[in-house]
Amino acid sequence: MQRKLPPSFYNFTTLGGLVVAGLSFGLILFLLVLDWFSGASRPYVGIIAFMILPAFLLGGLAIAGVGVWRERLRLRSSSAVAQQLPVVDLNNPRHQAAVVFVTTGALLLIVFSGFGSFQAYEHMESDEFCGQTCHTVMNPEYTAYKNSPHARVGCVKCHIGPGAGWFVKSKISGAYQLYSVAFNKYSRPIATPIHNLRPAQETCENCHWPRQFFSEKRFTYSYYASDAKNSKWTLDLLVKVGGGNGQAGPTAGIHWHMNINNKVSYISSDETRQTIPWVRAVAPDGTTNVYQSTEKPLNAADVNESKTRRMDCIDCHNRPTHIYSPPARSVDNLMAANRIDASLPSAKNLAVFVLEKTYTTGAAAADSIKAIIGGYYAANYAELATAKQPQIAQMIFEVQGVYARNYFPEMKTSWKGYPDNIGHMYFNGCFRCHDGKHVSQTGKVLSNDCNTCHIVLSDKIGADTSRTSVKGLDFGHPVNISDAWKKQQCSDCHNPAAGAKPLVEPIIPAKK
Ligand code: HEC
Ligand code: HEC
Ligand code: HEC
Ligand code: HEC
Ligand code: HEC
Ligand code: HEC
Repeated sequence: MQRKLPPSFYNFTTLGGLVVAGLSFGLILFLLVLDWFSGASRPYVGIIAFMILPAFLLGGLAIAGVGVWRERLRLRSSSAVAQQLPVVDLNNPRHQAAVVFVTTGALLLIVFSGFGSFQAYEHMESDEFCGQTCHTVMNPEYTAYKNSPHARVGCVKCHIGPGAGWFVKSKISGAYQLYSVAFNKYSRPIATPIHNLRPAQETCENCHWPRQFFSEKRFTYSYYASDAKNSKWTLDLLVKVGGGNGQAGPTAGIHWHMNINNKVSYISSDETRQTIPWVRAVAPDGTTNVYQSTEKPLNAADVNESKTRRMDCIDCHNRPTHIYSPPARSVDNLMAANRIDASLPSAKNLAVFVLEKTYTTGAAAADSIKAIIGGYYAANYAELATAKQPQIAQMIFEVQGVYARNYFPEMKTSWKGYPDNIGHMYFNGCFRCHDGKHVSQTGKVLSNDCNTCHIVLSDKIGADTSRTSVKGLDFGHPVNISDAWKKQQCSDCHNPAAGAKPLVEPIIPAKK
């Protein structure tokens, strides 16, 4: 056989290295072609083609280089020729061919590794990489994200943002995540990165410009009670989402007060920022108000020692995309959209009941939901169970869907694990500060008047009582709890913490 390569290439290390590099290169090309033609995007292909195989390719080349170097040392010590570097003679046709071969190879390698690292970078930024690579682990966050208003906003737009610094930072923490997944060390549910999120000014505010919040936004809610008739109540709220631009006219509302000109800072006494005993508001003219909780006041030493946080988007919108709905809300929405037939007796109570039961896996839940709902109507409304068989089947289907989108038993994740700070019904949210019990040094109270943040435009209970007013109505709680809603936090009843009494009697009494 005629030897085409310089003599120093002919050793096992070099040839082995070259074979590894060649194979990796071939496989990369193969996967690229496959990925190109299949159209569908698969997270694992990306990891293999852009991260693992290139590492083998470079490793193979490095090993081949070491082999050449060692072989040259050996050849030199054994031969009398004290030649340092190969002599290239461009008039020699064999040398010409070798030069052309080596330079083309080097150029190709540079082009491909440039292309490869760009692909690797793009792939690491993709939602598939973030959301699907470790499928079970990220399934809750990815599923919720896919069903949220931000489904088309990449994970990295909020979690990393622009600039190289945060990219590198995220890859370092990513390496730890890879380790924790490989060795099964991750927590279930995944902890919220509440103290490590990039400041909202550098993420959210790239798309949502705080000066562009105007006027009010109308929210229409439909609720169904947990009685046999699924009594309906509708509520129209005008939420004062304004804020906006002082130069363009008067400013008022939720966003202006919170962010543009006023500096609101607070101290929280727990990791998840749910308990806020101390709040300071500094107006543009320098007027400062410090509001202290009358229930859990901090003393001066505590205040000095604690870290204050300047309020930003995340203090209210902490779940803009990983939204896990409370069951009552999901079921109300489906009944309002007529996807669950509201004429099925006790449908609301039954649906919420099956959703809140504990299951070991998603598949087990889907089976039980079918068995319990089907069984309930067959046992209690035999005639209706036959007449409304399609409606019952659809209810089962819809409730299974709600479960799959909002409960992840494998990751111990559901709406209960992650407080949502918008509003005040299921979690304290705005009422962490606006509970009417935060008072300033001059006696000013952080208002929890029901008209501070929204007004009730209209409400309607059943078919008979309907009220409307553009000036705002007094709130009427949908079921009679006298004035408990004025004295207690809404979440005291609406977010029954573990072990607490359920809000309403469950449809199927617990076995004695
Ligand atoms: C619109 C912005 C936004 C997008 C897009 C986004 N996230 Fe998040 N993510 C957040 C915020 C904010 C939190 C912190 C939640 C909190 O403080 O309660 C968070 C928290 C998380 C957590 C911690 C667990 C939890 O639910 O608190 C994980 C894991 C996560 N995100 C993964 C992802 C993945 C994967 C994607 C893409 C598929 C993604 N995120 C897209 C804003 C976003
Ligand atoms: C890459 C651009 C982008 C980023 C970054 C982004 N958003 Fe959005 N956001 C959008 C778009 C687009 C919509 C509108 C979706 C629609 O109307 O369907 C939206 C909608 C919203 C809404 C209204 C949701 C609703 O129910 O109507 C809120 C609130 C919001 N974003 C908050 C945030 C917060 C908080 C952050 C930072 C954690 C953030 N966004 C980051 C693009 C972005
Ligand atoms: C004091 C709490 C609070 C802060 C701070 C806050 N928001 Fe909001 N925001 C709300 C509430 C409440 C609503 C209306 C209810 C809803 O959308 O669920 C809202 C609505 C929105 C909407 C939808 C508006 C519309 O007209 O459809 C966007 C977008 C938004 N916020 C983005 C942001 C961004 C970006 C920041 C940070 C610069 C921010 N918000 C800071 C409470 C807040
Ligand atoms: C960290 C504490 C804190 C939280 C949480 C908070 N606020 Fe506030 N809020 C304040 C402070 C402080 C002021 C300004 C009081 C002042 O004028 O000195 C204020 C003022 C307001 C105002 C203007 C009231 C007025 O007198 O005109 C509105 C509206 C408002 N908040 C809405 C909300 C909404 C809606 C939420 C929940 C999404 C919320 N706030 C959550 C601290 C908070
Ligand atoms: C500090 C501001 C603030 C105050 C004070 C306030 N609310 Fe709200 N409320 C909100 C916001 C913001 C929402 C919208 C949440 C969402 O759906 O995004 C809301 C939503 C609601 C809803 C719909 C709840 C749901 O999720 O279905 C009801 C009902 C309601 N408020 C009643 C009241 C009553 C009654 C009072 C007086 C005791 C009150 N609110 C005081 C900010 C406030
Ligand atoms: C003493 C306990 C208690 C308090 C406090 C309370 N509620 Fe309720 N609430 C109930 C009960 C019980 C129901 C009926 C639930 C059902 O039939 O499924 C209910 C139903 C509702 C519904 C309809 C829910 C649905 O999913 O159909 C809304 C909205 C509501 N309450 C708002 C509020 C608000 C806002 C507050 C705080 C201002 C509040 N509640 C405080 C006990 C309470």
